[in-house]
Amino acid sequence: MMMNKKLVKSKKQSIGKKIIKSNSTAKFSSIKPITNTIIHGDTLQTLKKFPSNKINLIITSPSYMLGKEYDSEKSLEEYKKYHADVIKECHRVLTEDGALYWNVAQTPWNGEILPLGAIFYDILKKENFYLKNWIIWHFEGGLNAKKRLSGRYENILWMVKDKENFVFNLDDIRIPAKWHMDKRCNPKGKNPTDFWTEVDYVWDINRVVNVSKEKTPHPTQFPEKMIKRIIKSSSNKDDIVMDIFSGSGTVMKVAEVEGRRWIGIDKELKYCKIALKRVMSSPSK
Ligand SMILES: C[S@@+](CC[C@H](N)C(=O)[O-])C[C@H]1O[C@@H](n2cnc3c(N)ncnc32)[C@H](O)[C@@H]1O
Repeated sequence: MMMNKKLVKSKKQSIGKKIIKSNSTAKFSSIKPITNTIIHGDTLQTLKKFPSNKINLIITSPSYMLGKEYDSEKSLEEYKKYHADVIKECHRVLTEDGALYWNVAQTPWNGEILPLGAIFYDILKKENFYLKNWIIWHFEGGLNAKKRLSGRYENILWMVKDKENFVFNLDDIRIPAKWHMDKRCNPKGKNPTDFWTEVDYVWDINRVVNVSKEKTPHPTQFPEKMIKRIIKSSSNKDDIVMDIFSGSGTVMKVAEVEGRRWIGIDKELKYCKIALKRVMSSPSK
């Protein structure tokens, strides 16, 4: 959607500087100056500069080591160690009732499949997170495998810091019940379950492909509808929602539209710029 240049400018001015360089400061003294900004820098180094217990919700997807242009060459052990350190920082920066949604797939690796969900579950548990749901995100399309079954789902691990005290606004994400005339059904609709698919006729969560309206040049973009479901269920108005590997900025865009504050971190300046443009042209509630 094209947006009036003046409006974009005034919105930019009202929120302040949007892309900031992580290495321009040794520490962020408070959360305010970095709220509603995209931080350009390495995720681990940047998180270490954050104050503790300020972020309500983190939704993210790290590199899957699939040889994408943004992947760094690392051994599996180095990859696990780096992300374990990142997850430790996520635990520290989240509020006590905060949550982390960690999205990963199964990665082909030296002729076998690495179950990244299982690998990260162990790491997340070690860092004192608790699993609330292991969400299956099923989609159509993608590579057709020749020597194994084609992969058509990814995992989203919904983790919380406190098993009893966490945000879950079920009524905000209900979907119409199949048997809505049945008096036993909740008139507000049913729980959308832990299996998310594009045939889910209300939310229509398919992958972002080249012909999608929301597609940017980023190779692995989250679908906005999926992020909307997570933000609505696991945060409240004005909460701070963060994507620590923010890419094209889907999480920040939806957070802005849903009246949440947001922060993004990415090491590639070109993605920070794409994300900023997306957020600036989004209407906020
Ligand atoms: C899977 S993509 C995320 C896409 C994003 N969810 C979206 O909707 O566009 C991972 C992102 O992490 C960034 N990234 C990878 N390693 C990083 C690191 N060490 N520090 C900061 N960003 C990193 C990449 O540049 C890439 O944009």
